[in-house]
Amino acid sequence: MPQDTPASRTSVTVIGLGAMGQALAGAFLNAGHPTTVWNRSAGKGDDLVARGAVRAASAAEAVRASDLVVVCVVDYDASRAILEPLAADLAGRTLVNLTSDTPERAREAAAWAAKAGVDYLDGAVMVPTTVVGTPDALLFHSGPRAVYERHEDTLRALGGQSTYVGEDHGHAALYDLSLLDYFWTSMAGLVHAYALATADGVPAAAIAPFLKANAGLVLSLVEETAKGVDSGSYPGDQGNLAMEAAGIEHIAHAAEHRGLDTSVLRAVHALAARGVALGHGADSWTATVEAARKPGA
Ligand SMILES: NC(=O)c1ccc[n+]([C@@H]2O[C@H](COP(=O)([O-])OP(=O)(O)OC[C@H]3O[C@@H](n4cnc5c(N)ncnc54)[C@H](OP(=O)(O)O)[C@@H]3O)[C@@H](O)[C@H]2O)c1
Repeated sequence: MPQDTPASRTSVTVIGLGAMGQALAGAFLNAGHPTTVWNRSAGKGDDLVARGAVRAASAAEAVRASDLVVVCVVDYDASRAILEPLAADLAGRTLVNLTSDTPERAREAAAWAAKAGVDYLDGAVMVPTTVVGTPDALLFHSGPRAVYERHEDTLRALGGQSTYVGEDHGHAALYDLSLLDYFWTSMAGLVHAYALATADGVPAAAIAPFLKANAGLVLSLVEETAKGVDSGSYPGDQGNLAMEAAGIEHIAHAAEHRGLDTSVLRAVHALAARGVALGHGADSWTATVEAARKPGA
């Protein structure tokens, strides 16, 4: 029976030693994987080398060191610049691109990899560097299921919540961007709520406990809203879009009166008003998905 020692574990190469690349390489090292690293600029990853990583002299040497190559750089222009000259070295190996970008660019990269004879998985890291490698760390992976399953145990070193989201190479990025779409619009609302409160001298800290309860309300609506979006049914008997649009107008008006930026609130109001204009005034907020899908309507 093979012993589960570092030497018996899969060798991994990590290309890109920015903050995230270093965290990924560190997680592989912690899990006992022999790890080779490379970065465009010198001077990064000394502590990884001190912990046992091998620093390759070139990207080509790094690729040739392992059957599993993970790349994590600033964007796909950067990953293309590194990888495209290495097609012959990558052929027959598995490349996992954990660089964040769009689904379209992930699919382009997959098409390039297919031509080059490289098994390709796309992926997205959904947690900060400090959480990478822990049981709580969420990463998405997409691409051929057989390739994912072949490397699943090794990739799980990066995060206990690693999740395969399908054969379409674009889906890891799609899940990533959907979550970030929600996150950033929520963060805009959170900070604006504090701006409104503090404009009248109420400290943000006084509002914070109530916003936590409000965030819980959003949490309770996540699955119900998904059901409405998937079914196209938006019953508004407990609260309707026309009433909610009027309520948003009050918030925007009060914010304008205090000289605050209301561009986000006005955009939210415009979305609701278009939902009403499309005939969904008596439906729930979920009906704004119809307005989101028809920006010109
Ligand atoms: N940091 C986070 O908390 C976090 C969280 C989730 C996802 N991510 C994603 O992880 C990816 C990497 O982020 P990061 O935080 O590691 O960024 P970073 O610290 O800014 O590092 C950027 C990396 O990209 C390399 N790079 C940039 N342009 C290049 C080029 N033209 N050719 C070759 N290499 C190039 C840099 O190499 P040099 O050192 O030579 O400049 C460096 O290794 C991004 O897609 C980011 O969205 C990051």
